[in-house]
Amino acid sequence: EIDFLLDVAGDLKRKFYMDVPTPYLPLKTIFLMFFEQSTRTRNSMEAGIAQLGGHANYLDTSSMQISHGESAKDTGIILSSFGHGIACRNCFWEIGNKYLREMAAHSSRPIMNLQCDLYHPMQGVADLMTIKEKFTSTKGIKVSIIWAYATSHKKPISVPLTQALLFPRYQMDVTLAYPKGFELPDWAIDEAKENATRYGGSFRITHDIEEAFRDADVVIPKNWGSWSSKDPDVNIDDFKDWKCTEKLMSIASKDVKYMHALPADRGNEVEDSVIDGPHSIVYQEAENRLHTAKAVMMLTM
Ligand code: CP
Repeated sequence: EIDFLLDVAGDLKRKFYMDVPTPYLPLKTIFLMFFEQSTRTRNSMEAGIAQLGGHANYLDTSSMQISHGESAKDTGIILSSFGHGIACRNCFWEIGNKYLREMAAHSSRPIMNLQCDLYHPMQGVADLMTIKEKFTSTKGIKVSIIWAYATSHKKPISVPLTQALLFPRYQMDVTLAYPKGFELPDWAIDEAKENATRYGGSFRITHDIEEAFRDADVVIPKNWGSWSSKDPDVNIDDFKDWKCTEKLMSIASKDVKYMHALPADRGNEVEDSVIDGPHSIVYQEAENRLHTAKAVMMLTM
C-alpha cells in the first residue's frame, strides 16, 4: 500500500509540474479538524483537495462544539454524513490517537491522521518519498534520527516514532540517538526492531551524538519532548550541544542529506548554515507533503 501510494504521489507530482489538471475527487468534501497549529499539514491538504477538484472545510476545533464537550463519536458521525472524509490533528498526550480511533469507529467515511500523540503518517510518507528520490535504493542507507535541543515548544514524539517504525521496513540502517530521558516508548522500539528483522533493515540506539552523525547518509536532528517528562532529573538545558552543526555534518558521509519535518528551531536544533546549506533537503521534503497528501486523499476518499 505504501509503495502504491508513493507511485500515485509521484504521478501527481509530475502532473503538478506539467500543469496537468487532476480532478480525481470532483465535488468531494473533506473536513480538516485541527486541535493545534499547522502550516504544512493544513495547506498541503487544503491546496491538495482543491487541485483534486474537491473542497476542504477547515475546522479550528476551539470554535466547534468539541470545546463544550461534544464527543468524538458524535462529531465523527455527523461530519461523515456531510462529506467524504475527515482528517484530524490531535497531539494531546494519551488522548490524540484514541480520539482519532474513536471517530474512525463511528465515521462512515475515512479518517486521516494529520498527527496525533503517537504518529505523523503524512510526514512519514513524505519523508520516505524524499529519501527515495535522493537515493537509488533505500537498502543499507544509514539514517540517523537524532534528538535536538529546542526552546520553541515541546514537540510531540510522533515524527521520530513514525520514522523509527517506517524506515526499517525499507531496509534502511536506522540509528535513534537521544540523551537519556528522551526515550521513545518501549513498545515502539520493540516494533522498530521487529520491522528491521522482518524486512532486512537494522535499528540501534545510541546516546552519543557523534556516533549518530558518523558516516550517516541522512541525518534528521529534531526535538521531541520527553513523553516521560515527569522525570525531575531531565533538564533540557543540559543538552544544548545536541545541535546539528557544520562540525557534526563534517563527520557524516560526504553527500549526507539533512532533513527536518519543520518548523525548525533555528540556532537551537540546527545552525542556519546547515539548514540553508547544500546538504539540506528540507524544502523538497516539505513540498512532498503536498503530493503525498493528495495521494492519501485520492486512495481513501
Ligand atoms: N511538519 C508538519 O507537520 O508541519 P506543520 O506543523 O506546519 O503542519
